[in-house]
Amino acid sequence: MNIIRAHHAGACYGVERALAMVSHALEEYGAPVYTLGPLIHNPTVVKELELSGIVAIESLDEIKSGTLVIRSHGVAPDVIDQARARGLNIVDATCPHVSKVHKACSGLSDKGYFVIVVGEAGHPEVEGICGYAGSEFLVVPDAGGLPQQLPSAHIGIVVQTTQSEETFERVVAALRDRVEDIEIHNTVCFATQLRQEAACDVAKTVDVMVVVGGRNSGNTRRLYQISSKVCPQTYHIESPEEIDPQWFEGYETVGITAGASTPESQILAVIERLEELS
Ligand code: F3S
Repeated sequence: MNIIRAHHAGACYGVERALAMVSHALEEYGAPVYTLGPLIHNPTVVKELELSGIVAIESLDEIKSGTLVIRSHGVAPDVIDQARARGLNIVDATCPHVSKVHKACSGLSDKGYFVIVVGEAGHPEVEGICGYAGSEFLVVPDAGGLPQQLPSAHIGIVVQTTQSEETFERVVAALRDRVEDIEIHNTVCFATQLRQEAACDVAKTVDVMVVVGGRNSGNTRRLYQISSKVCPQTYHIESPEEIDPQWFEGYETVGITAGASTPESQILAVIERLEELS
């Protein structure tokens, strides 16, 4: 079996940076170090982090003191204010690309634009972005989510970093003719685009495609969707143990890609398992 790995796959700059910052915080301040929500959307890595003393909490109410790492998704400014008010030691690992979305969003809000965020409602990154959008905003997953009656004639648009370029362009196209004053910020992360394009390129040329990453990882799920459109035999796994040898029977080529929160070690473990089956 021929195994083809996508040119761009696996942990992105923001995730690598957050992992490095949390280890540094652990060395400097000692365990436990808290993260608001799991540091990354990868259950295997989160379990390993727990063993080293990095504890994911769901709410600031769970802690009274200590070190809090803000994960790469970022948070709304009021969350930082609350953490400061509690006297927590804050390590901000918000990905710089996400910080750019925050800046764009607050700039739009300051200029009086009604902000539309293209993204997944309820996703932590989107919740953080909305915290910079002022008192009124709208989150839409795609052009179909736009209301018949727009709330303002002055619309600003930003996009969750891990959304696809196509989704963003659809929303922009649907708004352009309906809004007299529109300010557009394409904040899709380059890392995401590269992974999506590379996954699609490989998926077009292989019989079977394997996507590695957390099931709770939005960008990994999108790689799965993109790959399965061009390669119907696409499987999303979190670990090599999930691989079923029957998936590859009668096929010659398998492609592999991985989400931006999948560390290199997990990709290599999957490749090793695929090689065993070859
Ligand atoms: Fe940052 Fe882009 Fe990764 S926004 S966390 S580098 S996917």
